Amino acid sequence: MARVTTRHAGTESELAELRSKYVPRGITSSHPIAADRARGSELWDTTGKRYIDFAGGIGVMNVGHAHPRVMRAVRDQLEKATHTSFQVVQYESYLRLAQRLCDAAPIAGDKKAIFFSTGAEAIENAVKIARAATGREAVISFRGAFHGRTLLALSLTGSVQPYKQNFGPYAAEVYQTPFPYSYRGWNTEAALADLGNLLESEVGPKRVAAIVIEPVLGEGGFVPAPFDFMQKLRELCDRYGILLIADEIQTGFGRTGKLFAVEHSRVEPDLMTVAKSLAAGFPLSAVIGKAAVMDAPDPGGLGGTYGGNPVACAAGLAVMDVMRDEKLPERAARIGSVVEERMRTWAAETELVGEVRGLGAMMGMELVRDRKTKEPADSETAKILAAARDKGLIILRCGVHHNVIRTLMPLTIPDEQLEEGLDILGAALGA
Ligand SMILES: Cc1ncc(COP(=O)(O)O)c(C=O)c1O
Repeated sequence: MARVTTRHAGTESELAELRSKYVPRGITSSHPIAADRARGSELWDTTGKRYIDFAGGIGVMNVGHAHPRVMRAVRDQLEKATHTSFQVVQYESYLRLAQRLCDAAPIAGDKKAIFFSTGAEAIENAVKIARAATGREAVISFRGAFHGRTLLALSLTGSVQPYKQNFGPYAAEVYQTPFPYSYRGWNTEAALADLGNLLESEVGPKRVAAIVIEPVLGEGGFVPAPFDFMQKLRELCDRYGILLIADEIQTGFGRTGKLFAVEHSRVEPDLMTVAKSLAAGFPLSAVIGKAAVMDAPDPGGLGGTYGGNPVACAAGLAVMDVMRDEKLPERAARIGSVVEERMRTWAAETELVGEVRGLGAMMGMELVRDRKTKEPADSETAKILAAARDKGLIILRCGVHHNVIRTLMPLTIPDEQLEEGLDILGAALGA
């Protein structure tokens, strides 16, 4: 493949100097390398070193870097128009993608979809829509949840370090309850009991507009919500007229073995937020939901200059085609079973692996210093990621205690590269 050279190709030390001089320390990078180019499931840094990519730009590249069909769709759109703002002049790709998402969303009846640019924006707007539809103010989210870094999304986020420190006061009428995270003490019954207590002692259910849940806790540690918990949550929402919002921003687009993770539990949310792998790296997010709920805000109440950018929508349409034609949800299930088998082998070999869990290719491994006390092995996790990187694998961690190694490789990854990446991870773990 012809190597594309950048006009300003700085040395590693030049880049490091630029970063420390001009970029605030508040934004960090998991790995101290600079990307030059990426294709499929491989990434090359500016020194020419090759890596297997198990991070996919934080779960964004489910169809792989530079998928030819996405690139073609984007190139075609670039030739036509890069931006008109849907709020000024509409365009067909927005409307077609809205139709595709509504058809694909696991919600019965008429549906509608609206586009934004980031995950946080989708969350903010889902809450606005829920409030307008119910005439209620309160919103409930879960401890350990991550919903984004804007103020309302951050208020809904249930993890202090590094997200919430120093940034208060937070939005009013946000309440938090434990996620059903059985490894750390909350099974379905315990989590439901705590939610019941919250509704009795802090916020009456008739004041609650929505409950927002990630069907698999993402940044919070790759913890799948038990399906019976999701079903009980749906029942509770129905009982009190509360809207259920599924945040599918990280779980979406085939990652868990279905297009959307809620499909595993057969629970129908009222609203869903999607972003990340929706458009293969082009900034695009959406809220999809029941038509009557989505139509609650008055005309002009929703939008944003860039929301549903035409280049991003063209990418999104191509992603939907690739998902279908390459059967990527099925491929995710296969990848997940390969990864899980390896992780279970490591768990049998080393005490460091406290729990292996996940759904489809969204697999995580929680590392602990002691299996009884479950003391989080956070510094050990950091060392393993660094060792893996040195050996040629880009992989991320997550978890409130920063001790969960998670897999977010492109679902198009060839078997040999999947094995190669797992071999590197296994060697890093052993070291
Ligand atoms: C479940 C979930 N919701 C929301 C967000 C926020 O998305 P963004 O970073 O695009 O604002 C993320 C990002 O990681 C996420 O994983």
